[in-house]
Amino acid sequence: MDRILIRGGNRLTGKLPISGAKNSALTLMPCALLTEEPVTLRNLPRLADVDSFGHLLNQLGVSTEIEGARPSDFGRVMTMRAGRLTSTEAPYDIVRKMRASILVLGPLVARAGEATVSLPGGCSIGNRPIDLHLKALEAMGARIELAAGYVKAIAPGGRLPGGRVAFPIVSVGATENALMAAVLAKGGTVIENAAREPEIVDLCNLLLAMGASISGVGTERLEIEGVERLHGATYRVMPDRIEAGSYACAAAITGGSVELVGAKPDDMRATIAALIDAGVTLSTAPFPGFPTDMQAQFMAMLCKADGASVLTETIFENRYMHVPELARMGADIQVRGRTAVVRGVDHLVGAPVMATDLRASMSLIIAGLVAQGQTEVSRVYHLDRGYERLEEKLSAVGADIERVGDG
Ligand code: EPZ
Repeated sequence: MDRILIRGGNRLTGKLPISGAKNSALTLMPCALLTEEPVTLRNLPRLADVDSFGHLLNQLGVSTEIEGARPSDFGRVMTMRAGRLTSTEAPYDIVRKMRASILVLGPLVARAGEATVSLPGGCSIGNRPIDLHLKALEAMGARIELAAGYVKAIAPGGRLPGGRVAFPIVSVGATENALMAAVLAKGGTVIENAAREPEIVDLCNLLLAMGASISGVGTERLEIEGVERLHGATYRVMPDRIEAGSYACAAAITGGSVELVGAKPDDMRATIAALIDAGVTLSTAPFPGFPTDMQAQFMAMLCKADGASVLTETIFENRYMHVPELARMGADIQVRGRTAVVRGVDHLVGAPVMATDLRASMSLIIAGLVAQGQTEVSRVYHLDRGYERLEEKLSAVGADIERVGDG
């Protein structure tokens, strides 16, 4: 298995291109299921999760065509055509590798009147149930059956009536599924306490470009008027605010100066504010609060801050797997329940460490950039799920980093 070796101490300087957003791409791709016409996505990041989603769509009968891109290019253009669906089932084998597969549930019910999706199962950062996804579809008139590890959703008469969805807590994925189900419903749907993440706005903008009727975009109350059919569209995936925030932490910890080419500051206000205040008391929260997907990277940066910081993880119940690994590098972090106290230390020391999930693995890379000696990060497949050509981007701004292994 691949490992990444980092020799710390270099100050990062220069330009670093930001790729299209993983968490937007994974909700834009299933929109292809909503029309027979072609949907083209530009600035699609080259990531393992995007490839897996392409395979899932293929097995539902969607063709996916990648326009010729030079190997040196970041991102690519993909045209998807769901002229005729050959299946409405997302099998366990694919779903267990990528929980975002659940995002075919809403569009399949909307387009085909039924969907069968394997339950995603547990995840290293938390239980992550899908009850809110199912309740939203029920509120729109679907019948839900659970059997043998699969959920089956059926629209009476082949088309959802629509309804009122009121989420008790904010869920990005459940909002996305509800939106994609509502756009082809017979009647109207109101979604209350909807997630307001920039990725949700990106999804709404693609659906609007396909002919959907949505109001309240970017707010916690979305109103959708179902339409008979949607048409094709070409859309550019938004820049990845979490990738940009991760590299901002990398630059900051080395005392460097890096231009994040293509990043959109408006989508990163909480992260930027926290960077300015480093040496902070922070709680993760749904957008526009501080993103949980930045918590681990920030913690790594704070390991070298002058003074103590307090982080509270409010979204996922098990998102401190990186703490013992950072401690192996000499970090001083005390965790009690959902709160971590990080005391800055004079120096970190390189060590063999293990990636446990996507963002945790990035925190180890960030720590390795300033650690004395060499850090060896194993299980880097976690990184490949969400960071496009990380070593190339970091070495281009001065990091001493390489990937080794049997490729
Ligand atoms: C999305 O996950 C992102 N993934 C996550 O990014 C991100 O951490 C998360 O939103 C929060 O911002 C993608 O977009 C593919 P949620 P999602 O539904 O949709 C609970 C990364 O690192 N909940 O907003 O799964 C849930 O357990 C990944 O890129 C229910 O209880 O997150 C959690 O505590 C990791 N029932 C909270 O809500 C449900 O039905 C928020 O989860 C759904 C969620």
